[in-house]
Amino acid sequence: MIDIKENFSLKKFNTFGFDIQCRYFSTFSNETELKEILLLQKKLNIPLMVIGGGSNLLFKNDFNGFVIQPTNKNIEIKNETNEYVELRVGAGENWDEFVEYCVNNNWGGIENLSLIPGFVGTCPIQNIGAYGVEVKDVILLVETFDIETFSTHSFTNADCHFGYRDSIFKHDLKGKHIITHVSFKLNKKVDFILDYGHLKTELLKYKIIDLKNIRQAVIDIRNSKLPKPEDTGNAGSFFKNPVVKNELAEQLKQQYPDIPIYVQNAKESKIPAGWLIEKAGWKGRNIGNAGVHSKQALVLINLGNATGAEVLHLAKEIQNSVKNQFGIELEMEVNVV
Ligand code: EPU
Repeated sequence: MIDIKENFSLKKFNTFGFDIQCRYFSTFSNETELKEILLLQKKLNIPLMVIGGGSNLLFKNDFNGFVIQPTNKNIEIKNETNEYVELRVGAGENWDEFVEYCVNNNWGGIENLSLIPGFVGTCPIQNIGAYGVEVKDVILLVETFDIETFSTHSFTNADCHFGYRDSIFKHDLKGKHIITHVSFKLNKKVDFILDYGHLKTELLKYKIIDLKNIRQAVIDIRNSKLPKPEDTGNAGSFFKNPVVKNELAEQLKQQYPDIPIYVQNAKESKIPAGWLIEKAGWKGRNIGNAGVHSKQALVLINLGNATGAEVLHLAKEIQNSVKNQFGIELEMEVNVV
């Protein structure tokens, strides 16, 4: 049974905590409910938006359309050997609860992705990543529902065209398919990824390196740097870390010897946007009700009653000043609606 709400506040459904409204809102837990909602939405002839945890969204205004959210949460074991387990998970499962469940079962592969806000169904869209792991490393299949034809589809890992915070769901399939399930292959054998500097340092506090301790270390690092959306509205990293030509990276290194540079290949390097924003003097600064987090300059925050427009204005100012100082264009990571 679908329960449709009209003129519904999305304040609790976007981690920036913007108090905006949508015309209609409904959850769905299976294909029948999804079809029912889509038929109604087509009849009303208004735009559709699917949200998960709302952790990567910036609403500029009220949304005069139909917002829908998956609530199917089942975790099914599809295949299991002594070495690995394959799981099919409902799109409505909370990402971090899924990570915790896997860690408790001693299934490895996503422990570095602990505490990332959002839903399982949205993790493939921007290929969530942290501490040396991206979710593409463990995704087997993404199942979708086509909004036009009502047919179901299965995308293999290769079909998803995963890249850094990127996938086919941000491009060719944007607004066309709804993700209903994601399947993962997780490890039963010890295969930890501990190359990321901060994680290595944090783990020095532990005598044993196991999945639970890695998860705890990641949680502690995140809690020390990233604001909790319940306390301070934010959407995690606001910008992507820019990838620049090696010549520019070398030139900047001469000027700023402390600049962190992660060489990607013979031609390109990645530079932390947080460093650029801090160096440009923005860390901890506010414009109106929008601010730059004082512990991680890559995170823009809602200081209380900010609007999406105010946060966007701050973002544009930051982009201009980083462009002027370093010649680098910062690309937004959040989805602007
Ligand atoms: N830095 C600064 N000042 C800052 C922030 C960062 O100088 O205010 C520099 C430091 O040199 C630091 C380096 O940037 O060593 C990297 O910082 P950090 O480890 O915090 O990671 P990040 O590159 O800023 C990325 C992801 C995060 C992810 C972390 C950890 C992107 C856009 N962001 O941030 O993802 O948690 O690495 O792996 O790639 C998210 O996507 O929402 C997110 C939080």
